[in-house]
Amino acid sequence: MAGRNFLFVPGPTNVPDRVQRAMVVSMEDHRSPDFPTITHQITQGLKRVFKTESGTPFVFPSSGTGCWEAALTNTLSPGDRVLAARFGQFSHLWIDMCQKLGLEVEVVDCEWGTGVPLDVYRDRLEADTDHAIKAVLVCHNETATGVTSDVAGVRRVLDNANHPALLFVDCVSSLASIDLRFDEWKIDMAVSGSQKGLMLPAGLGILCASSKALELRHTARLPRSYFDLDAMITSNKTGYFPYTPALSLLYGLIESLKMIDEEGLDNIFRRHHYLAAGVRAAVQQGWGLQLCAQGPEWYSDTVSAIMVPEGVNGADVIRRAYTRYNLSLGAGLSRVAGKLFRIGHLGDMNEVHLMAAIAGAEMAMLDSGIKVEPGSGVAAASEYWRNTVLL
Ligand SMILES: Cc1ncc(COP(=O)(O)O)c(C=O)c1O
Repeated sequence: MAGRNFLFVPGPTNVPDRVQRAMVVSMEDHRSPDFPTITHQITQGLKRVFKTESGTPFVFPSSGTGCWEAALTNTLSPGDRVLAARFGQFSHLWIDMCQKLGLEVEVVDCEWGTGVPLDVYRDRLEADTDHAIKAVLVCHNETATGVTSDVAGVRRVLDNANHPALLFVDCVSSLASIDLRFDEWKIDMAVSGSQKGLMLPAGLGILCASSKALELRHTARLPRSYFDLDAMITSNKTGYFPYTPALSLLYGLIESLKMIDEEGLDNIFRRHHYLAAGVRAAVQQGWGLQLCAQGPEWYSDTVSAIMVPEGVNGADVIRRAYTRYNLSLGAGLSRVAGKLFRIGHLGDMNEVHLMAAIAGAEMAMLDSGIKVEPGSGVAAASEYWRNTVLL
């Protein structure tokens, strides 16, 4: 098909040209005397992205899922109790992993389209007077439904209950796009990946651990080998990795961290909010459709999950967008399969770029029989963006 593919899945995201170019490197010896400079730049850059001075970032050749496992296995033992809310495919999969690893999960099932229920977390933690709950899991941004949860709120709930449980945060689709404050929110393990806000190809699992979490590796009895942080800590200290690092991706990461520093992390959050608000204007005011997220308190600034009307299959919209217009939209996953499509608006993105997704989704919806007013989404987004100053 002529023209470029417009990639609007909520990860992998578009890789900026300069990041692509930075990855075109000859292979080099990852045990050379020069190599620690690379490790050092990455560690320092990631600390800024996580907003941490006390946390320790780790980079694994894996994806986010690997770091879910690293977070759990380096801190917990078989039978340990964890508290976790399930409200979408990714919060579900993390719980599923906990169960497969032999943890006892206190699952709080919530409606898809909502997020972590702070009142339920508060009740469970207050009732847990003997502190059987060892960790509390939060999926900061549920990519399947376009819902952002209040991590700071979970920290407040833990503190108010005087509960010592670890705070684990999945920030796979929020890191470097939605505000996350590792130190201020006293996060113990933050799990992410390279292919979303960091604007890289998939292939790196990114983890940040508190010293409290790292201490637990000495007593945690869940089996681990590849994801054993001990080996990483020992090698990283000298600037090296315990096994062959994904060198090209590391060069890409250095470049993307530079871009993040140049724009400024808080400016990036503001840009994501502004772009997301334009998409929401298209969906709600333009098309008159609903988001899966059930209220503004849950709206995600990195992905919008758009409900299709009864009688229409969301997969049909996605198929038509792809085959006819070369536009890749995100699918509805698991329980919401067919009921929605998603527009990812994270990473390297601006208004006009995002207009392609809005215009293309609108055409694909019309082709699928959804009676939206032609041009209405574009008009609503344009109205929002033209009249809103991005400070
Ligand atoms: C919120 C969230 N958590 C975890 C994952 C899994 O990450 P990965 O696919 O990098 O293993 C994803 C992937 O999209 C995600 O969106």
